[in-house]
Amino acid sequence: MKIVGPFKQIVTLAGLPLRGALADEDLQILHHAGVLIDQGVVVKVGDFETLKLEADQVQEVIGDQVLLPGFIDCHTHICFGGTRANDFAMRNAGKSYLEIAESGGGIWSSVQHTREADFETLLKSLLERIEYLKSIGITTIEVKSGYGLNLEQELKMLRVIQKASTMTKVTLVPTCLAAHMKPKDYDSKAHSDRTYLEYVLEEILPVVQKERLAKRVDVFIEKSAFEPKESAEFLSKAKQLGFDLTVHADQFTSGSSQVAVDAGAKSADHLEASSNEAIAYLAKSETVAVALPGASLGLGEPFTPARKLLDQGAILAIGSDWNPGSAPMGNLIAQASILASYEKLSTAEVFAALTFRAAHALGLDERGTIERGKKADFVSYNTDNYQTILYRQGTLAPSATYINGDLHYGDY
Ligand code: NIG
Ligand code: FE
Repeated sequence: MKIVGPFKQIVTLAGLPLRGALADEDLQILHHAGVLIDQGVVVKVGDFETLKLEADQVQEVIGDQVLLPGFIDCHTHICFGGTRANDFAMRNAGKSYLEIAESGGGIWSSVQHTREADFETLLKSLLERIEYLKSIGITTIEVKSGYGLNLEQELKMLRVIQKASTMTKVTLVPTCLAAHMKPKDYDSKAHSDRTYLEYVLEEILPVVQKERLAKRVDVFIEKSAFEPKESAEFLSKAKQLGFDLTVHADQFTSGSSQVAVDAGAKSADHLEASSNEAIAYLAKSETVAVALPGASLGLGEPFTPARKLLDQGAILAIGSDWNPGSAPMGNLIAQASILASYEKLSTAEVFAALTFRAAHALGLDERGTIERGKKADFVSYNTDNYQTILYRQGTLAPSATYINGDLHYGDY
């Protein structure tokens, strides 16, 4: 058994409710503390000198450090080819969605670039993004397909994600987002008159399942993508096949988060446009509300009403939505800090949204806090005060990232 410490503060995130508002006074903070780890799992957390007696290996850390559970990014699109820098510049120069699409931008341009990219190129860039996220303390990453939009190309993306997960200790959670938009080249006649969503259900998802490429299915419900009614049918059939569900909901127009809740989705993500009625409905449900401040910052759109959601009792998580179009930044910690300033979120609420509440959205409740039995994934910072982490708005780099109790970035 190994002990790591002593940490000036360990913010365990243990003992907190899954839903609703949190005050910083609710945080369990252990001083001069250590973590006892056996086979990648936390055995005990507490006073360093006391626990040291039980350890047969002691790993001392240098200087004042704060330890937190490893962060969980529960919503990304980091497997992609190409760039959309031109979309970003055009949007900021006042061009409309339509003008950008007409000049060759939008999701469809990422589909073309991703289709053109070969397996190795996609894999290399995905691994680089994973390394970056690990360097900012992220130890679990959800990764969506959705830039392939036909059987061959969706499988290519999911196989790249599967290959990457064998090459990193970071946990990757793949999600099939073949229902990202109707591909411009979809020919229903070539597919026995099936609609694109029927094609996804009948030709893509069975293979995804057979090859164990993903256990989760996502759909983008929006005017530019899929209607609520067809999406509800799609979700219900995907659920019958045995997939967990997640939805891109209420990004520009309200209404689709209700579809997500009614379908029993694990999470409804975006919610920038959610009406008060939609907020109330989500807050009463078991569906995790995922705020994506990176998309608000990338598009210059309002933030998800995180304060209202928490005050009404929702389960709130925060994801980066890192993608080449709407959320190019990728720094989840910077984004969460900025969301906290605008939405008035306590440090406890932000940390919860980046750890055990995000874990719950992915069905990974065995991680996200530092307590007995939990996966020993952590992030540490060179500071004597946990408040400094969000105060530095993403500019304080971690001193180390631990996975299964071992150092995978930085130094002790
Ligand atoms: O989560 N909203 C839809 N999908 C992505 C954007 C993807 C893209 O623009 O490439 C999102 O914001
Ligand atoms: Fe997204």
